Amino acid sequence: MSEQQRIYPVDERLAADAWIDRDRYQQLYRQSVEDPEGFWREQADSLSWSKKPSTIKNTSFASDNVDIRWFEDGELNVAHNCLDRHLDSRGDQPAIIWEGDDPNDHKIITYRELHQRVSQLANGLKSLGVGKGDTVTLYMPMVPEAAMAMLACARIGAVHSVVFGGFSPDALAGRVVDSQSRVVITADESVRGGKQVPLKDNVDAALTREGTDVVESVLVVRRTGGDIQWHEGRDRWFDDVVDQQSTDCPAEPVNAEDPLFILYTSGSTGTPKGLKHTSGGYLLYAALTHRTVFDYHEGEVYWCAADVGWITGHSYIVYGPLANGATTLMFEGVPTYPSHGRIGQIVDKHQVAILYTSPTAIRALMAHGEHIMDDSRRDSLRILGSVGEPINPEAWDWFYRVVGNSRCPIVDTWWQTETGGHMITPMPGATDLKPGCATKPFFGVQPALVDNEGRRLEGAADGNLVILDSWPGQARSIWNNHDRFVQTYFSTYEGVYFTGDGCRRDEDGDYWITGRIDDVLNVSGHRMGTAEIESSLVAHESVAEAAVVGYPHDIKGQGIYVYVTLNDDVEPSDELKQELKQWVRKDIGPIATPDVIQWAPGLPKTRSGKIMRRILRKIAADECDGLGDTSTLADPGVVEDLIENRHVRI
Ligand code: WT7
Repeated sequence: MSEQQRIYPVDERLAADAWIDRDRYQQLYRQSVEDPEGFWREQADSLSWSKKPSTIKNTSFASDNVDIRWFEDGELNVAHNCLDRHLDSRGDQPAIIWEGDDPNDHKIITYRELHQRVSQLANGLKSLGVGKGDTVTLYMPMVPEAAMAMLACARIGAVHSVVFGGFSPDALAGRVVDSQSRVVITADESVRGGKQVPLKDNVDAALTREGTDVVESVLVVRRTGGDIQWHEGRDRWFDDVVDQQSTDCPAEPVNAEDPLFILYTSGSTGTPKGLKHTSGGYLLYAALTHRTVFDYHEGEVYWCAADVGWITGHSYIVYGPLANGATTLMFEGVPTYPSHGRIGQIVDKHQVAILYTSPTAIRALMAHGEHIMDDSRRDSLRILGSVGEPINPEAWDWFYRVVGNSRCPIVDTWWQTETGGHMITPMPGATDLKPGCATKPFFGVQPALVDNEGRRLEGAADGNLVILDSWPGQARSIWNNHDRFVQTYFSTYEGVYFTGDGCRRDEDGDYWITGRIDDVLNVSGHRMGTAEIESSLVAHESVAEAAVVGYPHDIKGQGIYVYVTLNDDVEPSDELKQELKQWVRKDIGPIATPDVIQWAPGLPKTRSGKIMRRILRKIAADECDGLGDTSTLADPGVVEDLIENRHVRI
């Protein structure tokens, strides 16, 4: 049998105790699409509301009126739901287990302690003038203070914008200006794989950029004690602000549709978009997916190995697990430090039951051989999860066999920053698994496939993935730019949400995500716009033109392949290639560093001047035989040169 036909049936013993078994999935899914109001009204009872919603769903995907509201007359507080309501029953239970980069560092924070610290920080933010609706930028390491800062904002109705700690000062500055944050929370340095990253220096550099003078205060967590510059009047030590505050800070009820956070993500054009997620629907969706997709049971240790700077960290390190009263493990380091067996060691040390990670992390481990897992048993594991990109069957198999001892189902969760939570995914007690397949829609999610003209495809088919109706976790808009929201997601095909992904539906009705069909790259599970990298390159004095495409990369999934046309008076050289790689790295961040640069005397263009990326992608993938139709090229000669000088990987 080919890999794709292999099926791993539901483990009946697991299904017997699971929240959702086959029958329940069928029944709830049917209800969720036939009677969304009834379904979500019932589900909403799992949250604690200060004012219970009477209106459940009020949503429109029509391109002249994109308007998405859930529970719109309800009021609640997200931090109250994640902390206060658990105090009576599980105040002394660990809320966060923090595992440091150094294997000798770990900390356990109970719900009671977390509640106290969040309340103090919330009072601290108030003392700096932060109030309801104000935005706060977080640029932080993977330390408990990051979760505390998110929850402290939520507690007072402020809106957080977390910027991944791997982004450059310029990228940070752009996000600070767009969100108009008056406060930035950071740390002196972060530590990953034994190396320090100068977060505070980056903040200092970012805050010299135009427009950043809106920032009045910078709170600095002391993580390493490393040397930093101090700006009197602006900078404050986190502990100095927080320690002196009262632990009493009432949670401010907000409207269900008040914003909870902004999160920037890359698209096919322009600057990153600040997606706006709101409070009630988002929290309900994060909590319900966390409980059912991971089959989370009381008392289990759950570990999502993402960074809080991405949506995965928001929904599945912080909000989903804490809303469910779970114990969430937060890991500061990288899977390969100090040794390649670190993931297994952490699983054993904290008796992790559920492990959620990315294909790219698995492939990085696979490359070192199965023996790297020999120093751990991993017999506490029950469920495995994968996210971020399509998982190739080889990586699936390694995850299943070597990490999970062939005992644990893998939930391959397809979703996006825009969707807030899982959209297409197996559930451990309900879904037969196929390696590399995201399988079935979550409750309330109605996927469909369309061709390029928007015609619906039925049955087994390959097409563009759209979602027909709204779900509560969906982003409501782009911060300050609703038109762009409509343009990006609701104008390609009328009346539906366009995901940007290609997808195949098989004979069993299972969905296989095939990857982005727009100019978005997925490098190690991180989303990058080709346009962002191109605009960085053309800002270099030697560069006349640049085109960026993805190519298959064994570990990262996709690598970044750049075609550069130099200005006439510039000599190509290996030094210049290095310089351009460093240029992009400094401009955007290490994750955007090009893997390959090829000098291109010319780029293949149509007669109307449009770059033919299809051809560039083929050449980068070393698939030069199938270049397809090149008859519309203005100058077919350039293609020959590019093929001849392509970078061939051995
Ligand atoms: C894009 C979204 C959702 C959190 C992490 C990434 C790709 C994500 C899968 C999966 C195949 C996947 C898609 C999607 N993607 N999960 N299980 N199988 N592809 O969030 O940065 O918003 O990226 O990641 O292409 O559109 P993101």
